[in-house]
Amino acid sequence: MRFLITAGPTREPIDPVRYISNRSSGKMGYAIAEAALDAGHEVILISGPVYLEPPRNAQLVSVSTTDEMSDAVHRQADDSEVCVLCAAVADYKPAEVSPVKIKKRAEEMSLKLSPTRDILESLGRQHDRKFLLVGFAAETDHIEENAAKKLRQKKCDIIVANDVRVGMESDENELLILFRDGEIKKLSRAPKKNLGSELVKIFSNFQQKRLTKKM
Ligand code: PMT
Repeated sequence: MRFLITAGPTREPIDPVRYISNRSSGKMGYAIAEAALDAGHEVILISGPVYLEPPRNAQLVSVSTTDEMSDAVHRQADDSEVCVLCAAVADYKPAEVSPVKIKKRAEEMSLKLSPTRDILESLGRQHDRKFLLVGFAAETDHIEENAAKKLRQKKCDIIVANDVRVGMESDENELLILFRDGEIKKLSRAPKKNLGSELVKIFSNFQQKRLTKKM
C-alpha cells in the first residue's frame, strides 16, 4: 500500500526572523513512516522542520508552513491508500507577515492571528475518497471526549489520541485509538518505534477490509 504520512510542526512566519510553531519533534510520524517501510509499504513523508534523519526509502517532501503542507498533502492524497496526519499543524497564523524585521519598542504589542486551513478536515470532506483517513488528536485533558469530537467533526476513519505531556518530543507514547464505528483500542506506553509497527498493522488491516467492502 502507499502511505502518506505527515510529521513534525508547521511554522508560520511573523517577519523574516520570527515565527509561530510548536514543540513537535516529528518522532511519532517518522516512527510510523519507518514501520510502514519495514512492512513493505511505499511511503511519502510530508514533514515540517525537524532534526531527524529521514527514513532511507521514504519519498520526503519538506515543507514549512501549513499552506505548504496542505498543498503537498492534496497533491498526493488521492494516489495513496492510507493518509496518516500526524503533524502538529499550527491552528493560527499571523494575519499579516511583515516583510522587514519588526523593531523592538517599549510598549506592549499584539499580533492579529487568522485561522489556518484545516488539512484533515478538508480531506474528510472529500466524499469520494478511496484512502483511509487517520487523524491524530493532541490533548491535555478529556482525551477520549475531545478525540471523539475530532473524529466526528473532521470525518475521518480513525483518530489516534495522545496526551502531549506523555507523547510530545519524547521517545515514548501512549495511545487511544478511536474507530468510526465506536470501537476504542488502547496501546499502553511503549517506544514510538513499537507503537508505529502496531499502528501500521491496524491501518493496513482496516484499509484492506474497506477495499473488500467488509465495512
Ligand atoms: O512529533 P512528536 O514530538 O513525536 O509528537 C507527536 C505528536 C504529539 C505531535 C503527535 O502524536 C500528534 O498528536 N499529532 C497531532 C498534533 C495536532 O495537531 O493535533 P490537533 O488535535 O491539534 O489536530 C487534530 C488533527 O487535525 C491532527 O491530525 C492534525 O494534523 C490535523 N490538523 C490540525 C490543524 C490544521 N490546521 N490542519 C490539520 O490537518
